[in-house]
Amino acid sequence: MATFIDILRVIHILNAVLMAWPFYALVAVNQRARLGPPLGDRTDTYMENIIKNRTIPCFVFQGTALVSGLALVLLRGAGFDALLTNPALGLKFLLLLLIIGLLLYVHLSLQPRIDALFSEAGGKPVLPEVAPRIGALRLRRKRIASICMFVVLTVSMLGVQVWAAFSLWMTALLIIAIILFTWRAYKSVTPYGWV
Ligand code: HEM
Repeated sequence: MATFIDILRVIHILNAVLMAWPFYALVAVNQRARLGPPLGDRTDTYMENIIKNRTIPCFVFQGTALVSGLALVLLRGAGFDALLTNPALGLKFLLLLLIIGLLLYVHLSLQPRIDALFSEAGGKPVLPEVAPRIGALRLRRKRIASICMFVVLTVSMLGVQVWAAFSLWMTALLIIAIILFTWRAYKSVTPYGWV
């Protein structure tokens, strides 16, 4: 049993690493912004194809986090009520539900609207009156990616303290550091990794 739990922990952690996509998506969209017009050429087709084809893999990683996380709770003998009695676990669970909801919104509503506006242009540069509509939808998607990045980092930080909680001030300090890093990833191409 101990070996199985160890393997499950490795799967859970590797899966968390693979959930770093929102960070790299922010790098990609910030680089696109630096490139400037025209909007609607092959660069945008390339970027949109990469972004929209990450949705299904993201659902798979979210599902893996949920299943491996809940399995760890049960195999460690904690029972499902730990989601109510253990604050770190309860928060991890709720935050995962939040990013599943956000991804569903992007997949079912936001991305199809972006795709429709680009396909109106039929592979040619987007008309000046359509460009701001695409810009607004892309901005909303970028903000959602930042929330996802913040959540994945926070849920990982909470994962380390599931069975031995940090002090409140330490958790608060780490959350502030995560907010600062997420803000930096939102605003820049993070040329030096952390900054
Ligand atoms: C965004 C989704 C998630 C991410 C990125 C994530 C990440 C992590 C990380 C990095 C750890 C630290 C592992 C260690 O140091 O041992 C961890 C531990 C843990 N996570 Fe998650 N987690 C996620 C979702 C969940 C969910 C939904 C649950 C269950 C409700 C869960 C349950 C656990 C448990 C029980 C541990 C402790 C592992 C052990 O028993 O040693 N996780 N998580």
